[in-house]
Parts: sequence; C-alpha cells; structure tokens
Amino acid sequence: MKNNRRKFIKNAGSLLAGPMLLPVFETLPANDVTKLLDRNKHLSAAALAKNEDFWYQISKSYTLTSEYLNLENGYYSLMSNEVLNAQIKHLKQVNESPSWHMRKVQHGQRRRVKRELAAFAGVAPEEIAILRNTTEALNILILGLELPEGSEMLYNVQDYFSMKEAIQIRAQHSSQKARQLELPLHKMSNAEIIRAYEEAITPDTKLLLLTHLINVTGQILPVRELCEMAESRGVEVIVDAAHSFAHIPFKIADLKCRYLGSSLHKWLGAPLGTGMLYIQKDQIQRVRPLIGCTAYKETDIRKFEYFGTHPAHSDLSISTALQFHQSLGSERIAARLHYLKNYWIEKVKDLPGLSVQTPTEEGRSCAIANVVVKGMPVRELEKKILADYGIHVMAIDYQGVNGLRITPHLYTLLPDLDRVVQAFRDICAK
Ligand SMILES: Cc1ncc(COP(=O)(O)O)c(C=O)c1O
Repeated sequence: MKNNRRKFIKNAGSLLAGPMLLPVFETLPANDVTKLLDRNKHLSAAALAKNEDFWYQISKSYTLTSEYLNLENGYYSLMSNEVLNAQIKHLKQVNESPSWHMRKVQHGQRRRVKRELAAFAGVAPEEIAILRNTTEALNILILGLELPEGSEMLYNVQDYFSMKEAIQIRAQHSSQKARQLELPLHKMSNAEIIRAYEEAITPDTKLLLLTHLINVTGQILPVRELCEMAESRGVEVIVDAAHSFAHIPFKIADLKCRYLGSSLHKWLGAPLGTGMLYIQKDQIQRVRPLIGCTAYKETDIRKFEYFGTHPAHSDLSISTALQFHQSLGSERIAARLHYLKNYWIEKVKDLPGLSVQTPTEEGRSCAIANVVVKGMPVRELEKKILADYGIHVMAIDYQGVNGLRITPHLYTLLPDLDRVVQAFRDICAK
C-alpha cells in the first residue's frame, strides 16, 4: 500500500547513550511543509483544501495500515510520523534515565510544553493542567466544582455518555439534581438550539454541560452564544471540547467559558493518553481535585496534576504535535476536513433511502458526518462496508442517534472517499 512507508534505520542521534537501533518513520520534515505552503501561498485555505497534490504530499506524513481504509477518525487520531518519532525518542530518553528524568528534568520540560499549549489554546499557562484525556479533565470539573446545595445540573441526550454518567454519580452522592434534555440538536438551527437551552434553564439550574462538537453527529454547537446566555442566567458551563480542539479553529478565550476539557490524542495527534483541563484563573479554587493534594495552593492549577508517576515522555511529544499542527495552520486543516466531508456527503445525500444526520453548512460541522440508510440496521451496515469494501467506519446507536459515522482525516484522499461513495451507491440501489 502506498502509505505504508514504515522502515527501520539506524539512529545515530541518541543524546544519552551510544549508537542504537530505533524505529524511525519516514516523514515530511516540518520545513518541507513550509516549502510546500510557500509554493501555494497565493491560495486561500478553501482553495488549498481542493489541491489534491498538496494533500497527497501531506498524507506522506502518516504511516497507515494496509489492512483496511480507516474512515473512523472520530475515535482518536494516529500520530503523524514526526510525532511518533519524537515519542519513541522521548520514551527512550526517559527509560534510560528514569529517576533522574522524573526528579530533575520532567518539571522544567512540562512547564515549557504547557507554555506552548497555552499559547496555542489562547489562555495562560497557569490556567491549564496536562492530564490523560477529556474524561479525566471533565470528571474533575463535574465532580469537583463547588455548587450551591440542591442545585440542578443540566445536560442533553447527545452529550458524551461518560460525562452524563459523571453527572448522575454526583447527583446520587450529593444534594444536586441531574436533568437530561432530549434535544435532537442535529435537526435544529443554532437559534433554535439557543432558545431550547434558554427555555430549559430553571432558577435551580446552576451547571450546564455543553459539547462543542457532538461526537455522534459531528455537529458544532454555538458554544460562545450558549455560554453568554447561560452566564446571564447565573448558570456555569463546562465545555466538552474533546472533538473540537485542534479540529476547528478557536481560542478558548473566544468561547467565554470558565471550564473546559479536551483530549490531545484526538485532533491534535498527540500521543495516546494526553489531555488538557482549562479553568479560568479566578475559578481554580472553586474546584476540588479528585486526588488529595496539599502541596499546591488551592488557587494553583497544578493541584490537578498530582497523579504520581506517569508516562512523562508522552507529555513531551505534545510539543511536536503542536509544531506539526501549526506548520499546517488550524484554518487550512479545518478547510480541508470540511471539504472532504462535503465531498462525499454531496455525492450520497440524494441516494434513495439515505438521510444525512449532520448539518453540513460552513461552521456547523467539519470532518465528522453521520448518515443512515432506511431499512438497514446500522451495525449490519458497518459490517457490510468493512466486509465488502474494506472500509472501517462506526455504527452509532446511542446518545439518541442511530446512524453510521464516517470521519476522514488529513491523510484521506479523494479516491478513498470515492470508495465509500461507491459503497453507498451499491447499497442504496438494492
Ligand atoms: C464528546 C466527547 N467527550 C469526551 C470524550 C472522551 O474522550 P477520552 O476518551 O479521550 O477521554 C469523547 C471521546 O470520544 C467524546 O467524543
């Protein structure tokens, strides 16, 4: 397969030991991305999104399996080769120097990575903690945020299942109450969504969970407007940015939220097991850490990073993931992903029996889309597309949505999407 470019070569660049064998994944160096961009600088992000030659070059930055075509990037992202190489190098460095690294090196390096991540996210380094994933970040917020006695915590059926469970658990063990809305968000306009949330808020509502980009449909919610509306009603908002961070361009400060969690192993392409918690500086003391900590002040975000010995090498590779992402640019990335999604949706949307369950207008979705075929159970559809066409996609039958989720990535090329279009043409013709 053209993308399977894995090879092992002798690595001469070790810092701490003599020559050794390390796997190195061939990649497009960051300065080649810059050269490629230089050649295309007359193009807008939307025009570059359609330049298949450019994206073919970018696709070489990834090493893919030849076993199947992966259109299920709605789970988490593979690392680019550059990030993978950095991860292997850092793993080796930490492994060679275990106690030394943890005692004398990791804290300085973590501070540097946090500065870079905070600059990218548009917040202060003192407002972010590097954690394992969104689940950890949002559980800290849902279970630890100070709330008035007897207050109501609101969420919607399309929010992520484990965040809803965390809210239910808090309700079971406190005076707080949990309430689920049943809003079919993908069928509503942004104005209807804002109105529906506004109408759902009662004087008891003090906490609202909002998912920025719904994982099951790919829909983007108007989070800033919702945060402003909620705040004007005295409701605090926790933003689940698991799928929006580094997928669609935004700065956390633009969302006007106080609390947010994201995974860095999804669209940023950082190593598996990296995530981020954001809390506005003056609110940190209102959130109790889940792991007991007296070493840091209540106002210090590091109280949430008191998790003991952990894979420190992964934190370091976040830096390389940020460089890779920024060398391409958030706007160009989002424009390409939006273009890919629209490319296949446009070709299948009018097929008999097929319905699109994702709003496809600019700004309302990006890479992820969900479709359903009448009379065809989604799990059967998933199996058929894998067995007959060699394409890995995801059947969704939870969070109030039933359909097939299809998610391209930066390494996806148009012929890949033509394969999925052909699959739907065949299936809908029967
Ligand atoms: C909307 C949303 N929130 C939270 C999560 C949890 O992310 P993680 O498993 O990285 O903690 C996911 C995972 O897909 C998600 O889609």
